Amino acid sequence: MLGKIKATTAFIKEKTGFDGKIAIVLGSGLGDFTRKVEVETTLDYAEIPNFPVTTVEGHSGKLIFGKVSGKSVVVMQGRFHYYEGYSMEELTFPVRVFKMLGVDYYLLSNAAGGINVSFEVGDLMVISDHINFFGINPLIGKNFDELGPRFPDMTNAYNCELRKQAFEIAKENSVALREGVYVGLTGPSFETPSEYRFFNIIGGDAVGMSTVPEVIVANHMKMKVFGVSIITNNGLEIAEGGNKHTDVLDVASLAGPKLEVIFSRLIEKIQI
Ligand code: HPA
Repeated sequence: MLGKIKATTAFIKEKTGFDGKIAIVLGSGLGDFTRKVEVETTLDYAEIPNFPVTTVEGHSGKLIFGKVSGKSVVVMQGRFHYYEGYSMEELTFPVRVFKMLGVDYYLLSNAAGGINVSFEVGDLMVISDHINFFGINPLIGKNFDELGPRFPDMTNAYNCELRKQAFEIAKENSVALREGVYVGLTGPSFETPSEYRFFNIIGGDAVGMSTVPEVIVANHMKMKVFGVSIITNNGLEIAEGGNKHTDVLDVASLAGPKLEVIFSRLIEKIQI
């Protein structure tokens, strides 16, 4: 695995000269954030050695290199999901490459189902913590000591300082922000009504099909993580006609402008 990470990193360095410290991952329907980026170079996943290729509608599959708020960033437009059939190693591969490129900050967004009674569809939730319900951990197998320890700490998995800054930004810009625990599971089926209730009872505020594997890997390598979920549907009061992926995409893209404010101001404030 290390050889592949090094080869892909060398390829990207050569093509882009990237020397930034910030990676941004855009979830379902959130691709519009790229309008905030002064694009310098774009690489399709298909042309990057060892990179998997996305299959799901709403994820276009490219790495964008450029500037946001004057800082160099790499933006991952379209992420890899376990339900697409990738292994944990494949779907967390980009995070490892980012670290080797010199990235220290991993900012992510996702679409999620709300299971906190006070949440409304369209809300933004800063992720304070997660519950791994994938039934698997991406660090299972040989540990690469060069990348991180065998038993990484997950106490501050979603960096406290970045969360605090996000709430200050939200206040300054009159953006309503929630905070809560993200339950990550494989999908691709949405949850049954009983499952949504269960995840609420065990302490979750939102459920989704991504994020947890990448965040574990990012923490293994001591990256600082910040994550926001767009609440795209209400798990406790399921809409008439049931849950639909197209509704998820529609709501996520409507919430995009609020997310843009939080991300771009946060990037401005990050001291590197
Ligand atoms: N469940 C799981 N993943 C999701 C949901 C949901 O209700 N909404 C958006 N992503």
